[in-house]
Amino acid sequence: MGLDYRKSILEALRDSVGEWVSGQQLCQEFGISRMAVSKHVRALRQQGYEIETAPRKGYRFHDGPNLLLPEEIRSDLPTEVLGQGLIEYSEVLESTHLRAEELALAGYREGTLVVAESQTHGRGRRGRSWYSGTQTGLCMSVVLRPPLVPDWSTILSLTLVVAVADALLEATNLPIRICWPNDLMIGERKLGGVLVDISSDLEAIRYTVVGVGLNVNQTRVQFPAELRDHATSLRIESDKVWNRVSILQKILVHLEKLYWSLDDGFTINILQRWRELDILLGRSVSLETMDGVISGVAMDISPDGRLLIQDADGKVVPVMGGKLKGAPPFLSTTSPRS
Ligand code: BTN
Repeated sequence: MGLDYRKSILEALRDSVGEWVSGQQLCQEFGISRMAVSKHVRALRQQGYEIETAPRKGYRFHDGPNLLLPEEIRSDLPTEVLGQGLIEYSEVLESTHLRAEELALAGYREGTLVVAESQTHGRGRRGRSWYSGTQTGLCMSVVLRPPLVPDWSTILSLTLVVAVADALLEATNLPIRICWPNDLMIGERKLGGVLVDISSDLEAIRYTVVGVGLNVNQTRVQFPAELRDHATSLRIESDKVWNRVSILQKILVHLEKLYWSLDDGFTINILQRWRELDILLGRSVSLETMDGVISGVAMDISPDGRLLIQDADGKVVPVMGGKLKGAPPFLSTTSPRS
């Protein structure tokens, strides 16, 4: 009950952001004593909310705590499904991806969201680990239940990466690009990555977990030494501290929008957008794949989402997945598990 009052007081103050709300008004609205109001505001301030208090004026809301708190994420979230059900928050978690997979297996609905302020065993692509910092990056994983057959898996992954890149472009105006298949880049440095795990049987995709790891407010020295030359953050690129909740909300909005538009006709738009955003096209690349190393020039993407590489003999080889070898930008912020 107490926590419900606290939530309602927070909403009332937030609705009047920058304006004074008297203690009397809050007492009357919620039918509680002045002492109780003041106790809840104190607790909110301890959580990191910036709420000014002044005798005879009352309370004035300035800002949230820049933590990924579920009530912050839900506040004015303009999605229909993503982030509208369970939002599981942890200060420290092994991996949001692992947890979201557990929830998906347990039958949690589409849109279930897991967030953490830091991870002890963040997972990257191809068995790598992901470094996330504490309260500075964004670690989120969302459960999706796409009504698609497994053939769509590659296009689905591509779509989710494009959606995250577009969300970041809109939120920040910074020159964010994709490096196939799932890296988010600014220039030659890695800003983040998208991890897509799809569980399917022969006929249908059962669930998908999309995880986003993003460097937001880290300064250069906050990165481990071995990542400093290859990683970047929104803060490093803009000299500004970003509101992580707003960025997370934008990602949810774009994921939902693009993912729901996924059908035969729309695939063409996704591929076109990928061509506009990816930094690999036209570059010489060397990829470690299950069939060995493939070297050549990245030419295009096939309609089913494979990277088309033209080798030295002029042969065009479609590649489903692999690890880029060589100098940055092909090094990632992820490091092999020890
Ligand atoms: C990559 O670049 O290899 C993808 C990195 C994805 C990291 C994110 S952080 C949130 C989610 N939880 C994880 O354990 N991994 C993903």
